[in-house]
Amino acid sequence: MKIAVLSTVKSLYSTRRLVEAAEKRGHECVVIDHSKCYVGIKQGKPSIHYKGQDISDIDAIIPRIGASVTFYGSAIVRQFEVMGVISANPSQAITRSRDKLRCMQILSGAGIGLPITGFARTTSDVDDLISMVGGAPLVIKLLEGTQGIGVVLAETKKAASSVIEAFYGLGNNILIQEYIKEAKGTDIRAFVVGGKVVGAMKRTAKEGEFRSNIHRGGTAEIIRLTKNERETAIAAAASMGLTVCGVDMMPSDRGPLVLEVNSSPGLEGIEKATKKDIASEIILYLEKQFELKKAAKPEIRKKKKKESNL
Ligand SMILES: Nc1ncnc2c1ncn2[C@@H]1O[C@H](COP(=O)(O)OP(=O)(O)OP(=O)(O)O)[C@@H](O)[C@H]1O
Ligand SMILES: [Mg+2]
Repeated sequence: MKIAVLSTVKSLYSTRRLVEAAEKRGHECVVIDHSKCYVGIKQGKPSIHYKGQDISDIDAIIPRIGASVTFYGSAIVRQFEVMGVISANPSQAITRSRDKLRCMQILSGAGIGLPITGFARTTSDVDDLISMVGGAPLVIKLLEGTQGIGVVLAETKKAASSVIEAFYGLGNNILIQEYIKEAKGTDIRAFVVGGKVVGAMKRTAKEGEFRSNIHRGGTAEIIRLTKNERETAIAAAASMGLTVCGVDMMPSDRGPLVLEVNSSPGLEGIEKATKKDIASEIILYLEKQFELKKAAKPEIRKKKKKESNL
């Protein structure tokens, strides 16, 4: 196969590992900066170009789309899709997962465990919003936050109201969430590939901190998931339509609660914590899809293409 890793930075651990794993399995692998790709949209002849060359000969892509180029990156993945190229994740699912609120709404509709979460636009109903998530202590999250930045624990109702008002005053979109005290500063990252959990780690917050992000001083170790945790991770990935993803969950008295489903999960943390070759799992998944595509009769392929949900 000719595989392309869509990544803006060649030297990133995840990008390097994917190239290494693909080459180890005998594939040709290139790194393509999706932000520099451009497309031709013609009747029945979609094309994709990079650095002056037509790169329509690629068999499979692994999108590693950063948050800052979601719109453009997803459009490039979509172009590969309309050309019939296999993708580690569908473009639509990537866009879906990028929006924390949309992600929570989809998970909620699919009946997956999640912390009770509220979303509002103004401060007029703050009291009701706070009681909806079970009162203080509660967690307030900036919708655009990442790496634990913009995640605030408000211990009292008074503190919660002030922080919520301050965020609204600054024009920020926020989520208000039930505080899961049983999690005790830990969360679980399950790495799902093709409907299976291929690795899992537990992240623990540093002393005195409730956020387990590695960027906030947290540590990671391998963990064996319970049946419930495994099933929750698989169901969360499926509900989002993601085939390669990281599902973040918190343990609680009522079972695992999903925080987020990440469509470009980093490989470094999970491979180092689990000592597993996760990159090769992604390549194996693409190989399987490629075989299925080859085995499908031409008329089925055509039909599938027509039905594709862009
Ligand atoms: N409702 C909650 N109750 C208890 N702890 C929480 C809750 N929400 C988040 N945390 C802790 O804070 C950490 C950061 O929260 P979250 O993952 O939602 O935001 P983020 O890491 O900034 O965003 P992203 O995962 O998109 O990068 C979690 O890993 C978890 O340890
Ligand atoms: Mg997180």
